[in-house]
Amino acid sequence: MLSLTLLSLSTLAAGAAVEKRIPVPAGYVAPPYYPSPYGGWTSDWSESYRKAALLVSNLTLAEKTNITAGTGIFMGRCVGNTGSAPRAGIPQLCLQDGPLGLRNMPEGDNTAFPAGITVGATWDKDLTYARGVAIGEEFRGKGVNVHLGPSVGPLGRKPRGGRNWEGFGSDPVLQAVGGARTIEGVQSVGVIATIKHLIANEQEMYRMYNLVQPGISSNLDDRTLHELYLWPFAEGVRSGVGSVMIAYNAVNGSACSQNSYLINGILKDELGFQGFVMSDWLAQISGVASALAGLDMSMPGDIHTVPLFGNSYWMYEYSRAILNGTIPVDRLDDSVTRILAAWFQMGQDQNYPPPNFDTNTQDAEGPLYPGALVSPRGVVNQFVNVRGNHDEVARAVARDAITLLKNTNGSLPLSRNATLKVFGTDAEKNPDGINSCADQGCNKGTLGMGWGSGSSRYPYMNSPIDGFKKRGANYTFFNTDSFPSNSNPAPSDTAVVFLSADSGENYITVDGNPGDRTNAGLHAWHNGDKLVKDVAAKYSNVIVVVHTVGPIILEEWNDLPSVKAILFAHLPGQEAGDSLMEVLYGDVSPSGHLPYTIPKSEDDYPDSLDLVGFQVGQPQDTFTEGLYVDYRHFNREKITPRYAFGHGLSYTTFEFANATITPVTQLTATPPARPAKGETPEYSTTIPPASEAYWPANFNRIWRYLYSWLEKNDADNAAKDANSTRKYPYPEGYSTEQKPGPVSGGAQGGNPALFDVAYELEVTVTNTGSRDGRAVAQLYVQFPTQGVAFDTPIIQLRDFEKTKTLAGGESEVLKLKVTRKDLSVWDVVSQNWIVPNVSGDYGLWVGGSSDTLTLRCGTASGNCEDGVDSPV
Ligand SMILES: *[C@@H]1O[C@H](CO)[C@@H](O)[C@H](O)[C@H]1NC(C)=O
Ligand SMILES: *[C@@H]1O[C@H](CO)[C@@H](O)[C@H](O)[C@H]1NC(C)=O
Ligand SMILES: *[C@@H]1O[C@H](CO)[C@@H](O)[C@H](O)[C@H]1NC(C)=O
Ligand SMILES: *[C@@H]1O[C@H](CO)[C@@H](O)[C@H](O)[C@H]1NC(C)=O
Ligand SMILES: *[C@@H]1O[C@H](CO)[C@@H](O)[C@H](O)[C@H]1NC(C)=O
Ligand SMILES: *[C@@H]1O[C@H](CO)[C@@H](O)[C@H](O)[C@H]1NC(C)=O
Ligand SMILES: *[C@@H]1O[C@H](CO)[C@@H](O)[C@H](O)[C@H]1NC(C)=O
Ligand SMILES: *[C@@H]1O[C@H](CO)[C@@H](O)[C@H](O)[C@H]1NC(C)=O
Ligand SMILES: *[C@@H]1O[C@H](CO)[C@@H](O)[C@H](O)[C@H]1NC(C)=O
Ligand SMILES: *[C@@H]1O[C@H](CO)[C@@H](O)[C@H](O)[C@H]1NC(C)=O
Repeated sequence: MLSLTLLSLSTLAAGAAVEKRIPVPAGYVAPPYYPSPYGGWTSDWSESYRKAALLVSNLTLAEKTNITAGTGIFMGRCVGNTGSAPRAGIPQLCLQDGPLGLRNMPEGDNTAFPAGITVGATWDKDLTYARGVAIGEEFRGKGVNVHLGPSVGPLGRKPRGGRNWEGFGSDPVLQAVGGARTIEGVQSVGVIATIKHLIANEQEMYRMYNLVQPGISSNLDDRTLHELYLWPFAEGVRSGVGSVMIAYNAVNGSACSQNSYLINGILKDELGFQGFVMSDWLAQISGVASALAGLDMSMPGDIHTVPLFGNSYWMYEYSRAILNGTIPVDRLDDSVTRILAAWFQMGQDQNYPPPNFDTNTQDAEGPLYPGALVSPRGVVNQFVNVRGNHDEVARAVARDAITLLKNTNGSLPLSRNATLKVFGTDAEKNPDGINSCADQGCNKGTLGMGWGSGSSRYPYMNSPIDGFKKRGANYTFFNTDSFPSNSNPAPSDTAVVFLSADSGENYITVDGNPGDRTNAGLHAWHNGDKLVKDVAAKYSNVIVVVHTVGPIILEEWNDLPSVKAILFAHLPGQEAGDSLMEVLYGDVSPSGHLPYTIPKSEDDYPDSLDLVGFQVGQPQDTFTEGLYVDYRHFNREKITPRYAFGHGLSYTTFEFANATITPVTQLTATPPARPAKGETPEYSTTIPPASEAYWPANFNRIWRYLYSWLEKNDADNAAKDANSTRKYPYPEGYSTEQKPGPVSGGAQGGNPALFDVAYELEVTVTNTGSRDGRAVAQLYVQFPTQGVAFDTPIIQLRDFEKTKTLAGGESEVLKLKVTRKDLSVWDVVSQNWIVPNVSGDYGLWVGGSSDTLTLRCGTASGNCEDGVDSPV
């Protein structure tokens, strides 16, 4: 998603053809996969498909092509507005950003929830779901049909990547749970969720195709794709997600929006995705090719090079491509059926509210089509407040995400009467106004979220200073990022220093950072390192609180004797203050855990994770590190990080003990055979009469609006072309014959047998301290080495659970599970998930972080042992 500022960039240059593939490094290929598989073959969607297919059978050509595309950028109240079929009672669908809540609402109408990375740091499945429900309620309340979230790609492969914070962390399972529970919550109230961005969109710079340059190509092998980047998408599809958004970038040289192997092969056939596939905004770069490759919806409808002039790859061109026989009718019918099936699946045919807001203005009245030069005006904002009591779940997420990295000698919690000196502009609201920067494109005041289309307007910002005030704390605030000379340090003072590190989406550059952290690097902004060092030189008891999009390097001050405690509060949204107070003053113990590794140096990462800079032609980004991102890399290279993935302290202590392991499903080297596809709708392949696409008489056209009708002449000529000898140059491997699907498919998410539980573990978690607290049990799998030809990361997260609040001495038994897929590797030869050694002794390690694993259950022995040497 992007906004107006970007458009000017893409309109400048002329000429260069983007259709021609630019060579990718040897060995990376984007194979063809045709035709696009019909949807409707899984039983959980069959009723919705029955209804949708019936409706589609009665639609005209122009109605069908109208539904598959947006009516143009800035041509409606939502960020995306599909064409409708009024005759058949099918409304325009409203699509709106973004993953942490409603974007661009009139100020005060919506909740600014904590960002995805904050949700990941809670390691709390139920809270993740509850936030999803609340987000769904707000989107429904505003009349949004399609929520453009959650984001599970980027995965956070590159620590400097601009949009990692929209997702849930740098591990496929953490990311998958965050995405899947969010989807289930959002869709539980009838809103279609959109999992995005498929796939490998790991940096912001050079992501888009424009007139002068193709978008960056992520070149990655099949196993890495399956075991890392696709994993969260598979779980989202398994949760029944209604829509998937395609990424801007290319994979193996082929733009994701027209990569047939990716959409037709992997997403629709292997993962059994039943909903519809939309382009990211202006990510579509062709008409026929993208339709054949499996794209179902073009957003916002315009061509990517020079939008806003009423030109589209689809709409009227799609009508033409059907009439001239180039795109098979069943391809269009399948797309429309997928869109309408998702609409029925969420119950949106019954009493769904129409939009009551306008993403383009906060005024009550405005142009109905801001993208048209001349537009009728009307009421566009009804100012419906949809916040309900969602501040509660927002605050709970913000609080339970707070991650205590260091706490020397129990410096925290603070005593109620502590005398505080508070430093750093991040502690208080942006003095220019909490929403003064469009799409939060600045880092001024308390950082509650990153910038870009994934941002929201704040209804309010409960800042840390608001929190101290409300507590009646004895504090003095120095609203500066340079150490002031007048703070009068006293030995009994506690200094609290607030730091931030920001990033965002590419269409806005903040302090020289074009989305990605090019300029800031992995350091706190606003000279934060110096501020901490200066404070630490004068105060002996220093607490550092960090609001950040991802890892920052702490080495300049982490070990200073006066730096007693470090808290990562991530991106808390509107609830920064009180949530932090609850932790600082010990109302609750901190229970967040890191959703990524914090290294000692940026050089500790593999070089292949650097941002890719300018390259002539298509920038190439080759994932040579394979599976070895984040902790998988640090463990293999035996590099001790500053703070390990999953690390997070509490005010109390926990013991993980008395574990048991129970085999549930007997494993086999390959999974049981997939079920065959169920029935799908039958579509006619007869080209409809040209008259179905004629403009209606006397239709009052809005200039630049995208319509699906053709002039009579154009429609008739297209129909004649269907009988001419002129043939469309179909891509290599093109076919129109539906296939049974790959061995690894069979249901939403893949072969259902992959999700059979192989082993169940129980572990008793006991609070061995005296204060209340919540623990997270993290389960990592270590593959056996004997008889295993596959190289696997030493440990990989596979499941986790969080306890309720446990009082001192109290215990809770947590159940964890590993599935067949969790114990498998993706075999590129057989194109299947295989268990490399069925009788091998897998280590299932349980503990409170990735570097404190001492409890091991063995699948061969069937026993669990405590006090074992950590595998890493
Ligand atoms: C990319 O190329 C690699 C190497 O040939 C191949 O294994 C993989 O399946 C390709 N992926 C896609 C999405 O085309
Ligand atoms: C098809 O459309 C006609 C009106 O054009 C309507 O009478 C009929 O009920 C529709 N059938 C279905 C299945 O929607
Ligand atoms: C296409 O959608 C637009 C916008 O809702 C609508 O005005 C137009 O009538 C639709 N076209 C058809 C063929 O129904
Ligand atoms: C049919 O129309 C589409 C859309 O304009 C066009 O891309 C395609 O080349 C046409 N096919 C033929 C055979 O001319
Ligand atoms: C922690 O407390 C102990 C005992 O009071 C003391 O000896 C030690 O110096 C303290 N450590 C730090 C880093 O303040
Ligand atoms: C706060 O109160 C506690 C106990 O009431 C006392 O021990 C401590 O010295 C006080 N701290 C300060 C900074 O006044
Ligand atoms: C705040 O702390 C200072 C230093 O300990 C003390 O002199 C002052 O009385 C305190 N103020 C209040 C309102 O408690
Ligand atoms: C573990 O089990 C033993 C034997 O059943 C029991 O005595 C002990 O209390 C248990 N420990 C915990 C932490 O539950
Ligand atoms: C194309 O050919 C078919 C079959 O020969 C015929 O029925 C149809 O009328 C022709 N269409 C046009 C536009 O000439
Ligand atoms: C599989 O693992 C078991 C247990 O470690 C071992 O005995 C066996 O030799 C392994 N299989 C192969 C084929 O090496």
